[in-house]
Amino acid sequence: MLQNRKSDPARLAGDIMRWLDRPLVLVGLMGVGKSTVGKRLANDLGIGFVDADEEIEKAAHMTIAEIFERFGEPYFRDGERRVISRLIDGQPRVIATGGGAFMNEETRALILSGAIAIWLDADIRTLVERVSRRNTRPLLRNGNPAEVLTRLAEQRNPIYAEAQIHVRSKDGPHHRTVTAILEGLARWHG
Ligand code: S3P
Repeated sequence: MLQNRKSDPARLAGDIMRWLDRPLVLVGLMGVGKSTVGKRLANDLGIGFVDADEEIEKAAHMTIAEIFERFGEPYFRDGERRVISRLIDGQPRVIATGGGAFMNEETRALILSGAIAIWLDADIRTLVERVSRRNTRPLLRNGNPAEVLTRLAEQRNPIYAEAQIHVRSKDGPHHRTVTAILEGLARWHG
């Protein structure tokens, strides 16, 4: 019974909001569901949600694919760092980041010191299935998505692992992943 009470998402969310004093930043590979899960998480906690990729597009008046094409990846990463630093302002909110943001040393340091990083992780098969729904990601345009994602997972997982919280996103409804995040936060806070 106690176990059920602890896992009740509304109760967990209420407890978390009593101590949360920073943004929650979702990191992880393309297709893992950072935006979808992030919106639901923000909704459950009763706080705002912002998608860093969308903020970059708004600031640049261009899509991410256009920024990559016209100015290259380093330019995009710099804009990404600036946008994320603006969004981490001490206010509790949920921020979904693009899959590469946490790889940038400065961006990562900003996130780890001013927010709580949550690594959303899924197996390659699930990621491939999810990224195949959209063809807007420049890093997946040249090459086989399964190969690209496998290589990125090898390079990036050890760095994502620096996040304070690690949650596996399973197949199935996103609310389960949201509950797993709430449980992870409650455990982390102790
Ligand atoms: C990228 C992930 C994308 C986007 C850009 C680069 C990456 O965001 O920021 O295409 O380096 O993994 P999503 O993770 O939201 O797809």
